[in-house]
Amino acid sequence: MDLTTSYMGLRLKNPVVASASPLSNTLDGIRRLEDAGAAGVVMYSLFEEQIYFQSFYIDYCLSHGTDSYAESQSYFPEMRDYNVGPDEYLRLIHDAKTAVNIPVIGSLNGATRGGWVEYARLIEQAGADALELNIYFLPASPYVTGEEVERRYVEILRDVKSTVSIPVAMKLSPYFSSVGDVARRLVDEGADALVLFNRFYQPDIDIENLDVTPRLALSQPHELRLPLCWVAILYGELLTDFAVTTGVHSYEDVLKSLMAGAKVAMMASELLKNGVGRVAEILAETERWMTEREYVSVNQMIGSMSRTHVADPAAFERANYMKMLASYKGRGQRPEAGGQ
Ligand SMILES: Cc1cc2nc3c(=O)[nH]c(=O)nc-3n(C[C@H](O)[C@H](O)[C@H](O)COP(=O)(O)O)c2cc1C
Repeated sequence: MDLTTSYMGLRLKNPVVASASPLSNTLDGIRRLEDAGAAGVVMYSLFEEQIYFQSFYIDYCLSHGTDSYAESQSYFPEMRDYNVGPDEYLRLIHDAKTAVNIPVIGSLNGATRGGWVEYARLIEQAGADALELNIYFLPASPYVTGEEVERRYVEILRDVKSTVSIPVAMKLSPYFSSVGDVARRLVDEGADALVLFNRFYQPDIDIENLDVTPRLALSQPHELRLPLCWVAILYGELLTDFAVTTGVHSYEDVLKSLMAGAKVAMMASELLKNGVGRVAEILAETERWMTEREYVSVNQMIGSMSRTHVADPAAFERANYMKMLASYKGRGQRPEAGGQ
């Protein structure tokens, strides 16, 4: 069975990649992902705020002639809980490249144009095989237009592409009026892959303490449907590679992602919840399923159920929406949890 795939020009031994998460924030964690069979690792992100904090901190110490570490650190206390600083990040990439044989993909997370994109070059220099850009921008002002938001994505990508020669993937959210148009513009700007979709972490309201609290919930399998739908729609339309992220929990999810048109299926929640050993199980089950169905390679499967390849392309469009609603009423079913 040929499980190999290529992603942004990187040759991968199989289509399961660990997406950015705390699983990659130590060398040991990265080794364990490789040992479990992951074909590649996306590092947890280095955040724009961390980069600016570091330069702020250096300026602060130089101008005050003293190490006011505790005071200056308090500006970004939450980052210390998640993450190391920029220097350690670069060192970890460098060390990972000597410790493992699988591709290591750096990850930058930001929302503005500016000096932090210089870190793309440093991540490349540290040895990363590719870079994933997660532009996590929440246009909280009602005066920010969709066009401004989209331009920001394109401009950040342009800045990064002009700085590095390693492949660059864009990790996107699904919250655009026209996902396809944004995706096309990013591909025109040189995105080597689109990673669909990032999850937004919505805060919750604590009604007892009248507080707004951050709440991180791991994904559920039904969340796969949104990236699956968009990869299936865009595959064949845009000349780029696709990665599915969000909701990949089982070998069936990996197979669906490939059939929709993804070159790789990325996983975080399942591995955080049930351990990195799930990669090996999922790969074994994927291989077993493919053997039973007489597939000989992963490549055979990629895009086979995309909109351009299925017998009924309307299945991905509005027509199917109406059909689905009608079939519910007709059969008196209860809606499936989470589906709609
Ligand atoms: C605890 C945690 C930390 C994460 N950290 C990052 C990060 O640093 N950068 C990033 O781009 N995505 C990050 N993600 C998002 C994941 O890479 C992934 O896209 C998302 O969880 C959806 O995939 P899943 O359904 O397999 O969890 C994080 C997710 C979790 C649960």
